[in-house]
Amino acid sequence: MSATVIDGKAFAASVREKVAGHVARLKEEQGIVPGLAVVLVGEDPASQVYVRSKGKQTVEVGMKSFEYKLPDTTTEDELLAVIDKLNNDPQVHGILVQLPLPSHMNSDLVINAIDPAKDVDGFHISNVGLLGTGQKSMVPCTPLGCLMMLRDHHGSLSGLNAVVIGRSNIVGKPMAQLLLGDSCTVTIAHSRTKDIEAVVRQADIVVAAVGRPEMVTGDWIKPGATVIDVGINRIDAGEGKTRLVGDCHYDSCAEVAGAITPVPGGVGPMTIACLLANTVTACCRANGLPEPKGLTA
Ligand code: GUN
Repeated sequence: MSATVIDGKAFAASVREKVAGHVARLKEEQGIVPGLAVVLVGEDPASQVYVRSKGKQTVEVGMKSFEYKLPDTTTEDELLAVIDKLNNDPQVHGILVQLPLPSHMNSDLVINAIDPAKDVDGFHISNVGLLGTGQKSMVPCTPLGCLMMLRDHHGSLSGLNAVVIGRSNIVGKPMAQLLLGDSCTVTIAHSRTKDIEAVVRQADIVVAAVGRPEMVTGDWIKPGATVIDVGINRIDAGEGKTRLVGDCHYDSCAEVAGAITPVPGGVGPMTIACLLANTVTACCRANGLPEPKGLTA
């Protein structure tokens, strides 16, 4: 079998198009322009690239983008003052503090200072609790993107066996909650899981989010299963070159799977698209308006 390739780039473009449509309607009918504030502390090159990309795409869908670039030397109190200002700014509907923060900051404290209604990352403890109890929340962007692709491919996920590999707060745990919300039978596998290959082989849906290049190989995959690869790892390709690979060994997995997301061009583009979707959702909720359909969990 040769797997269907799930095109995350095209899917993300369709999500952005839906977002742009909602933004245009909000402007026309309500005179409201959704706004997203992104806060970057320090000079981490990868974070700078992400933040630039977020700002660009925010403007492209017609929303307002507010960027705060603070030096490495910023104190926690200064950052908390910026967050307080954004919490109280009616033009700002979404706030994202780019992680990782410099080591002198307490990330949990900073994230929990964001107004949960504006927490478009879904990392605030209130949103984590709401998601865990099946209540309306802001949902972390990467797992939301994975869920959208899975729903699109399968229709209903009810009763399917899902194995999430990785137990991070950003991807693994919220992904498991979302799959449970869609009535999957969910297992979270991780570095201490015994006979992980056999566990993964039971899965109709595999979501790999461990950050270990090409760890999952085709012999781990049940024939016909759907493989969602969240990993983005840069590896040595020889001759001084590097290349991007996922947590799954693409060629061997694609031979066995029914569907698979490539790296790059799979889950990656969906993350920012879902950030924009969360911002428009937050804006609608803040204004007591109906939320956009198909852009939330
Ligand atoms: N750094 C890497 N991924 C993310 C993300 O999804 N949100 C935030 N805030 N920081 C990140």
